[in-house]
Amino acid sequence: MKKYKILLAISLIAIGLMSALVASINEKKEEQKQINSVPQMDNRWETKSEEFRTHYPRQFDSWRKTKNSDEIHDMLKEYPELVVLWAGYGFAKDYNAPRGHFYAIEDNRNTLRTGGPVDEKTGPMPTACWTCKSPDVPRIMAEQGDDEYYSGKWSKYGSDIINPIGCVDCHNPKTMELQVNRKYLDDALKAAGITDLANASQQDMRTMVCAQCHVEYYFAKKTTSAGKKAAVVTLPWANGTSVEAMEKYYDDLEFSDWTHKISKTPMLKAQHPGYEMWKTGAHGKNNVSCADCHMPYTQEGGIKYTDHNIGNPLENMSKTCMNCHRVSEKSLLANIAEKKARKDELHTKAMKQISAAHLEAGKAWELGATKEEMAPALKDIRHAQWRWDYAVASHPAFFHAPEETLRVLGTALEKAGDARIKLAKILAKYGASDYKAPANYSKEDAQKIIGLPFNKLIEEKKQFNDGLLQEWKKEAEKKGIYNPESTKDVEHKTSYN
Ligand code: HEC
Ligand code: HEC
Ligand code: HEC
Ligand code: HEC
Repeated sequence: MKKYKILLAISLIAIGLMSALVASINEKKEEQKQINSVPQMDNRWETKSEEFRTHYPRQFDSWRKTKNSDEIHDMLKEYPELVVLWAGYGFAKDYNAPRGHFYAIEDNRNTLRTGGPVDEKTGPMPTACWTCKSPDVPRIMAEQGDDEYYSGKWSKYGSDIINPIGCVDCHNPKTMELQVNRKYLDDALKAAGITDLANASQQDMRTMVCAQCHVEYYFAKKTTSAGKKAAVVTLPWANGTSVEAMEKYYDDLEFSDWTHKISKTPMLKAQHPGYEMWKTGAHGKNNVSCADCHMPYTQEGGIKYTDHNIGNPLENMSKTCMNCHRVSEKSLLANIAEKKARKDELHTKAMKQISAAHLEAGKAWELGATKEEMAPALKDIRHAQWRWDYAVASHPAFFHAPEETLRVLGTALEKAGDARIKLAKILAKYGASDYKAPANYSKEDAQKIIGLPFNKLIEEKKQFNDGLLQEWKKEAEKKGIYNPESTKDVEHKTSYN
């Protein structure tokens, strides 16, 4: 009898375990079904990402982890030459390394570059500065049309563009398919003869959703049909996406982003040609997409989903690199460190050369050099800085495209050298052959050299933060497009206080 009781007990336990397992499998299947199914959002343009949480908790929770990448890294402090390179332009005021997507709006409002507007008509920047920061941008473009979106000041949309990069930036909320909602990318891909989005494969789309923002662009000036002045985000790809092709595009248009305050050079600012650089590297050439490394598939129990915590893939190598590479993590990391060191060497050399060229040109102007004398040297400076910027502004291009990064930096150094030879001759002509441009200065020194009223900028920003910004938040809440809870515990971090 005893034997039977034991057997019975064992069977009961086994049955219990089996049912628990089946229940758990069913539950996971339910969840997997939910992930694969498409809930109907009432609102075609739901830009509050937290509204997607009930349907897609894993994607939402991992997306929200981009909040953990919150360190401010002041690039002007690390490389004070940047202040001289960007004299007369917003970037000399404030420039930090990127943080998590969660901070896109926060950082756009905090940077000294966007200034301290006091109403919807003031401030230094156009509306276009919001373009790669928020899902509210494609919403406004759809509701008001591109022409209206691109006209007016940045401050015009303070209470409309309020949620950081989120679901609707990359997905069609009705179908949850990947979707690019910014038309300028499609226009540019067609102009460059690369593809058009309607024919892009799923694998291509895993890169294209990022290329909406991680690309080179400029603001093309335009008068709209309603007679308004507009600054339209345009990708300069009509001749191709290489550094020389875009340089020619800008030269042919005689376009400049600004005139350099010291050297008076008509300058170009490279934004972040991340997609263009990636295309030239080993991964891009094999169509290893941005998402393959930055958004790996993740298995949790029986559930497979895409990790939406977009950050540094090296923090997650087993799920990214190791899917494809057979060598050890350690040897890959050593390889990457070497690539970075090689880039840093040329990067710093180029930066110092270009900074010296600007200051030498400034001295030549001071001594009475003429426009005609200066023009050839200024052209070299323009091209040198554009190339240097192109190579380093899409930050880890040293990894995405190591050879191209070094090639482009090599040509930047060459152009800077050409400029300095020409300037040395001019300086000699005006009796200043012994002029030595300041070097090894700090961020504060550099801001003095270029005459930047740093403290005034901070004061204006503080008034904006306490005043207009608070009104924007209240209005956005009233419009039903902003949930203050979503940013409740965000720490206020900037480079300047
Ligand atoms: C709507 C525009 C937009 C889209 C779409 C976008 N990004 Fe970004 N990305 C940004 C901006 C803006 C920042 C800088 C945010 C900040 O510093 O506040 C950024 C930052 C980053 C960072 C740095 C994160 C960190 O923690 O340092 C990485 C990595 C990144 N993006 C990769 C991607 C990838 C991969 C995709 C596509 C899957 C993508 N991004 C899509 C605009 C975008
Ligand atoms: C920067 C672009 C980007 C953003 C922002 C983004 N996604 Fe995704 N999402 C992707 C990519 C890329 C994939 C992979 C698609 C593929 O390869 O089929 C994906 C896949 C998905 C899937 C399909 C299932 C899976 O896990 O693969 C769901 C559901 C999803 N995302 C929901 C969301 C939600 C909810 C948000 C907002 C909290 C969001 N996504 C924000 C790019 C993005
Ligand atoms: C083969 C893997 C891989 C692919 C593909 C890839 N990346 Fe990266 N990405 C990395 C690694 C690794 C880093 C971090 C490098 C470092 O800083 O050490 C990185 C860093 C970044 C950063 C962070 C910059 C910073 O300073 O915080 C951005 C932005 C970025 N990638 C965007 C993209 C975009 C956009 C694409 C597609 C066009 C892409 N990546 C494709 C591996 C990849
Ligand atoms: C989806 C597959 C895939 C993933 C994921 C991937 N790689 Fe690669 N990797 C490739 C392919 C394909 C090549 C090109 C190989 C060739 O040309 O022989 C390559 C080449 C490389 C090279 C040599 C080329 C160069 O640029 O120096 C390095 C280094 C490298 N990968 C590092 C990484 C690291 C680090 C990661 C993770 C952040 C990673 N890869 C993720 C597929 C991948």
